Amino acid sequence: MYFFAIETSCDETSIALMEYKGGKIEEKNFLEKINSVKVISSIISSQAELFAKYGGVIPEISARNHAEQIYELFELVVREGVAKTGLKREDIFKKVEKIYVTKTPGLMSALRVGIEFAKSIAYHLKAEVVPVNHLYGHIASSFYHPVNSFTNKSVFPHLHLLVSGGNTQIILMKNWKDWQVVAQTLDDAAGECFDKTGRMLGIPYPAGPKMGKIAGEEFKNIVNLPIGMNRSDQKDLSYSGLKTAVRYLVQGCKIEGVVYEKVLNDVELKKLYEGKNLNDKLKFIKDNTISIQTVIIEQLIRQFKKQLKGEVKSIGLSGGVSANEMLKKHFEKLHKSSFLTERYLSGDNAIMIGLVGVLNDFYGD
Ligand code: KG4
Repeated sequence: MYFFAIETSCDETSIALMEYKGGKIEEKNFLEKINSVKVISSIISSQAELFAKYGGVIPEISARNHAEQIYELFELVVREGVAKTGLKREDIFKKVEKIYVTKTPGLMSALRVGIEFAKSIAYHLKAEVVPVNHLYGHIASSFYHPVNSFTNKSVFPHLHLLVSGGNTQIILMKNWKDWQVVAQTLDDAAGECFDKTGRMLGIPYPAGPKMGKIAGEEFKNIVNLPIGMNRSDQKDLSYSGLKTAVRYLVQGCKIEGVVYEKVLNDVELKKLYEGKNLNDKLKFIKDNTISIQTVIIEQLIRQFKKQLKGEVKSIGLSGGVSANEMLKKHFEKLHKSSFLTERYLSGDNAIMIGLVGVLNDFYGD
């Protein structure tokens, strides 16, 4: 079966043409099932640059941008599909049975564009539109390693850390359909905290990946930021204390050139990435960045460990922040069997939506 997958929940427009070969799939285990899905062609168009000048995503602008480019992206995916399969366009369309599309959670107006587009192509292709949950998508992406799928690994019970720009959750999964959120953030998501504290320091949106690059291999709470939810009976996560502490540090800083939310220029950013020739201002930004990353990771790891009981057979990490190298390094050490999301799937993408669509077909929605 061929199918399209569509993702427009936030500031990425993404479409994929995928295939799953039926056969004796019912006999396959979970990892074999998900890894028998094939990506024929896919595309992601990010609006991150557009929102850099605003310091964050503006839903209406994001929705308009999705609407402006979604058809063109669809065309590109179809054309690549033709080139990759050797099939004619009409023959690809005939083989498409389903259109999986992100329904929730996300920005209402942005989601709407993807859903309406899915409905209109479904009408022409005589295919079925199937709504998919975006968070399931992130989780599914951690299990997708078609080149080396480790299909003999035991997966469930599985403890998962989902860290994105909109969500931070620790999820215990008995199987693909039976799961519960055992801990979550009480305020912002981890990615949102990177972006907001980064913005205070002048690091352009999205600050998360840039902060990871600036911090590099250093892991230390240099400026002594608070790590919330410290008591042993506190299982959730919180970023409000950290954000307030960074705000006071930047606003109270007397170093020349340190101005709250004043955006750094390209030369300053380059110096920060290289870690060389840092003046007092850049040194201040670097020390804060290293400390913020350290504190965020320490809290994630500490709270995750609280849920890590003996019966857990594997752990997983997904969502935009799962691209953070330092987080991956610390996370991997927690269990002998860990599923890390490949970098190309860590941010929002349509492939993960297609994976969930297929899994839901097997296991029920
Ligand atoms: O999963 P995602 O693309 O969007 C949501 O579904 O929310 O996550 C985007 C978030 C942004 O906040 C971004 O700053 C953060 O992931 N992020 C990172 C890194 N790469 C992306 N945060 C820290 N380190 C990174 N390397």
